[in-house]
Amino acid sequence: MKFFLDTADINEIREGATLGVVDGVTTNPSLIAKTGRPVEDVAREICSIVDGPLSLEVLSVTAEEMIEEGQKLAAIHPNVVVKIPMIREGLKALRGLSTKGIAVNVTLVFSPLQALLAAKNGAAYVSPFIGRLDDISADGMNLISDIIEVYDAYGFETEVLIASVRNPMHVLEAAKMGADVATVPLAVLEQMLKHPLTDIGLEKFMADWHRSQQSKS
Ligand code: E4P
Repeated sequence: MKFFLDTADINEIREGATLGVVDGVTTNPSLIAKTGRPVEDVAREICSIVDGPLSLEVLSVTAEEMIEEGQKLAAIHPNVVVKIPMIREGLKALRGLSTKGIAVNVTLVFSPLQALLAAKNGAAYVSPFIGRLDDISADGMNLISDIIEVYDAYGFETEVLIASVRNPMHVLEAAKMGADVATVPLAVLEQMLKHPLTDIGLEKFMADWHRSQQSKS
């Protein structure tokens, strides 16, 4: 399973990158807006920290404009993946960009049929939003298993990138299903590496060791 950081916060990306498990970064207009900086500047800085796919989302709403904007975003850096929303115009733009050889991440996916259409038009990644489904009392994990089942049935190469991840259990459940990528906030990545018994165990090892050294002296 690949891990992407779901943030445009440079400090978080620098911190996350030191862990060695970060394969890429995803952003969206809300995350870029929080930085208060132009998308080109943020993108170049992220690419200098993480050598892996960086998803940047278009803001246009017609297919023609999305294709033009997508080409501009893709020209920022070879690692840029253009993020396109799963709407009618987005589906057309996806076909246009993918036939030009530009990698596309189809975002705001909430049904397996949306994911099927995205794969059919050549999406490199599809981003089902687990947390936002859970937020409305639907089953986010069910969406992931449905998408994987459909993709496996036809051998689609589109990578299933779980998004809107709220907690480590989302990652575990998706990993058991074989999802290709999890994009996570840094806080979730840090929760994944922690276990109270690890901390208690280490504390005891250290205490025992220091006690044995004191009794020698
Ligand atoms: C990533 O591609 C998505 O934009 C992001 O995971 C959305 O997460 P949220 O539902 O927590 O805003």
